[in-house]
Amino acid sequence: MKHIPVLAEDFRRFCESMPEPPAAYLDCTFGRGGHFRILIEDINTNMQADLIDRDLQAIEFGKKEFADLVERGQCRFHHLNFMRLADEASKELAEKKFDLILADLGVSSPQLDQAERGFSFYQEGPLDMRMDASKGIKAADVVNQWDAQEMIELFRDYGEIHNPTKVVNAIITERHNQNIETTTELAELIAKCIGWRKKGQHPATKYFLALRIFVNEELSLLQQSVVDLIARLKENGRLIMITFHSAEDRIVKWTFKEHKEQGQILTKKAVQATWQEKQKNPRARSAIMRVFEKGKL
Ligand SMILES: C[S@@+](CC[C@H](N)C(=O)[O-])C[C@H]1O[C@@H](n2cnc3c(N)ncnc32)[C@H](O)[C@@H]1O
Repeated sequence: MKHIPVLAEDFRRFCESMPEPPAAYLDCTFGRGGHFRILIEDINTNMQADLIDRDLQAIEFGKKEFADLVERGQCRFHHLNFMRLADEASKELAEKKFDLILADLGVSSPQLDQAERGFSFYQEGPLDMRMDASKGIKAADVVNQWDAQEMIELFRDYGEIHNPTKVVNAIITERHNQNIETTTELAELIAKCIGWRKKGQHPATKYFLALRIFVNEELSLLQQSVVDLIARLKENGRLIMITFHSAEDRIVKWTFKEHKEQGQILTKKAVQATWQEKQKNPRARSAIMRVFEKGKL
């Protein structure tokens, strides 16, 4: 499936209303470059851009798709985790300041579509879920090795599932027979255990979300990384955060509030997709955008 950028019109509005078109842009989650394309084609064709993704496939796609910009030295791709910028980025990138920063968290449509990445509960693939397939533990390690209490806490805290005990017990029983190795094995086990409750939402949705967030350290590093990104803004620079999970959104909201003395929050109310956008792009259903503008330095 082609990746459609979420909240694209809102993104455009916040870019167009900047006092000056952004000259230096940091995209923390390049994906398929949907948001970047809006900027470079419609807002400032001369912009300088640093484009990050922890998924090597996204980086390879970007280098091909925007080969002319790379050649001209107008954009640079970086394969790293933006939440670990300070450790993983070159000194130059780690110290650079930007007029506009975007972090659009979550998975891209191509990641969901590739069964072998292990994000999808509809397509059979190894239970992996790592965005950077070369690092860290996999979802299968959690499901097959953790004890019951650890799994209950994970599903409660990261999946916001009120009572995951029944599913966790089913996982433990199943793995006594054999390890749970594939996405569909786990999805079917969960569906059998709790049944379909919401039309159109697979019963495994929140369990998969919790595993993905944990495996990719998406929540644990988020707060510090929002602080770091605010620090990287130039005067009047804007940080646009798009999250897909209420726990992530709460972190963004509170971190922005805690740093209000450094600027202002431009989204008094979080921006969410219109009904029309949600119809066109199901990924937009849970997207939440918040924008912070840096004040005088
Ligand atoms: C929702 S997609 C971004 C889509 C992009 N804005 C577009 O319009 O094409 C999220 C992307 O960010 C990447 N990603 C998620 N968390 C990341 C992190 N902590 N560091 C770097 N990349 C990350 C994923 O690999 C994925 O490609």
